[in-house]
Amino acid sequence: MPDTRYHLRDRPRRNRRTAALRGLMRETELSPAHLILPLFVTEGEDTRIPIGAMPGCYRLSLKHIVHLAREAYGLGVPAVALFPVLADSLKDKYATECKNPDGLLQRTVKALKDALPALAVITDVAMDPYSSDGHDGLVKDGEIVNDETVEILAEMAVAQAAAGADLVAPSDMMDGRVGKIREALDGNGFINTGILAYSAKYASAFYGPFREALDSAPRSGDKKTYQMDPANRREAIREVMLDVAEGADIVMVKPALAYLDVIADVAANVDLPVAAYQVSGEYAMIKAAAANGWLDEDRVVAETLTAIRRAGADMILTYFAIDYARRLH
Ligand code: PBG
Repeated sequence: MPDTRYHLRDRPRRNRRTAALRGLMRETELSPAHLILPLFVTEGEDTRIPIGAMPGCYRLSLKHIVHLAREAYGLGVPAVALFPVLADSLKDKYATECKNPDGLLQRTVKALKDALPALAVITDVAMDPYSSDGHDGLVKDGEIVNDETVEILAEMAVAQAAAGADLVAPSDMMDGRVGKIREALDGNGFINTGILAYSAKYASAFYGPFREALDSAPRSGDKKTYQMDPANRREAIREVMLDVAEGADIVMVKPALAYLDVIADVAANVDLPVAAYQVSGEYAMIKAAAANGWLDEDRVVAETLTAIRRAGADMILTYFAIDYARRLH
């Protein structure tokens, strides 16, 4: 008999002894079916402009968007989230272009639904890509005014639904916008268009590369009067509960990796599906470290996405969606 001081009965390592056993014990599944690919669409016939701080990501013209969406779908990624890059000449204070039925975003949605009817298409509802002020809402005397913005957002959502979006995704953080958008969609007959609400979206430095991609940085001030303070956790529940009460179909936490506690809280508090957004800065950090040979990109991508799922996210928006799916195949 071994010395009883060393006679351990409980040995968790038994369950990790072989790959087969580890597979049986695995608590969290991560498949391409859980991923949503964000895409930046720009005008042009054959345009493909690299985004400096997001190596491997591009501003793409329609043809390339359809091509990439087809690849993603073929690899098992069921959805894309679209962000339009507009010329400054199309931007104004009221984001007027967002309602244009023949505008860039609306044309892209139609083209995707024609080419790939089974793909889920998600559109972003916020004024920043269309706004000469670069804010998600209407700026009046230096203030981002809430209620007038919500009226514009509701019209924007209806235009996107008319183009065929499966889900509209308000990323603006105005108060009451989910309720108004639901009302406007229903009032226009779009009862089946869902709302993916960016419910707990933080005022984060991790959005830097995205604002470069869209050239959408605020022309003055910051977004702290509408996006949440990164120090707050309970407030996320308040935001989420309001969106649930207003008719959201899915609630989202953004960014993801630095906010796993928030994802876990939200998942514990709602019955709705929970989404998380692995944002541009999270992507950039991994890419930069990998380019230096400091991290193994594939493993870090799988690990971070698994962690986000483990925290409670049902679905994840990630610029790595195709890379991850490709690696599995
Ligand atoms: C703005 C919007 C942002 C992102 C998605 N929608 C940036 C912001 O709030 O300034 C960020 C996405 C990312 O960083 O990947 N409506």
